[in-house]
Amino acid sequence: MIRRATYRDVDSINEIGKELHDNFAYLFKMENVVNTSYSRVYLYEENNKVLGFIHVDSHFEIMDLINIVVLKEYQNKGIGSKLLEFVVNNESYDKIMLEVRETNLNAIHLYEKYNFKEIYRRKKYYGDCDAVIMERMK
Ligand SMILES: CC(C)(COP(=O)(O)OP(=O)(O)OC[C@H]1O[C@@H](n2cnc3c(N)ncnc32)[C@H](O)[C@@H]1OP(=O)(O)O)[C@@H](O)C(=O)NCCC(=O)NCCS
Repeated sequence: MIRRATYRDVDSINEIGKELHDNFAYLFKMENVVNTSYSRVYLYEENNKVLGFIHVDSHFEIMDLINIVVLKEYQNKGIGSKLLEFVVNNESYDKIMLEVRETNLNAIHLYEKYNFKEIYRRKKYYGDCDAVIMERMK
């Protein structure tokens, strides 16, 4: 099931966030994010275990997709798709924007599946690779 995260879920989110960065907890400070009015964090849970999350920030008509992460051993089973589909269908926005490393082909594949299009590239933004900026209209 998919549900909104609360303060009690921060440890689970930080654990999953390690798939993205070793220091995810320090970088993203999810204990603040879950209480911020413009942020939404949704969890994918099975048998009371959190397997993935998506974090979006809503700034009026523009929504920024900040992170989407699924635990390694549960990736490629459709969970990322369910989380993204939930946000795309249930949130209010005119446009969703995101930024992704050009080398993150799994993520780019997922975004393209939900009609995100590349609009811009920040050359060598990550030192060794470009940042791809993508957007999707409602
Ligand atoms: C990106 C991510 C969230 C996708 O979640 P997921 O649950 O694995 O995604 P899904 O199972 O719904 O798959 C989505 C698509 O990507 C493809 N895909 C996912 N993992 C793949 C893999 N390891 N190899 C090949 N294709 C893969 C699937 O084929 C699927 O496409 P399809 O439905 O056309 O078959 C997940 O890989 C992840 O957590 N990565 C690490 C964190 C990250 O980089 N997040 C994005 C930046 S914030």
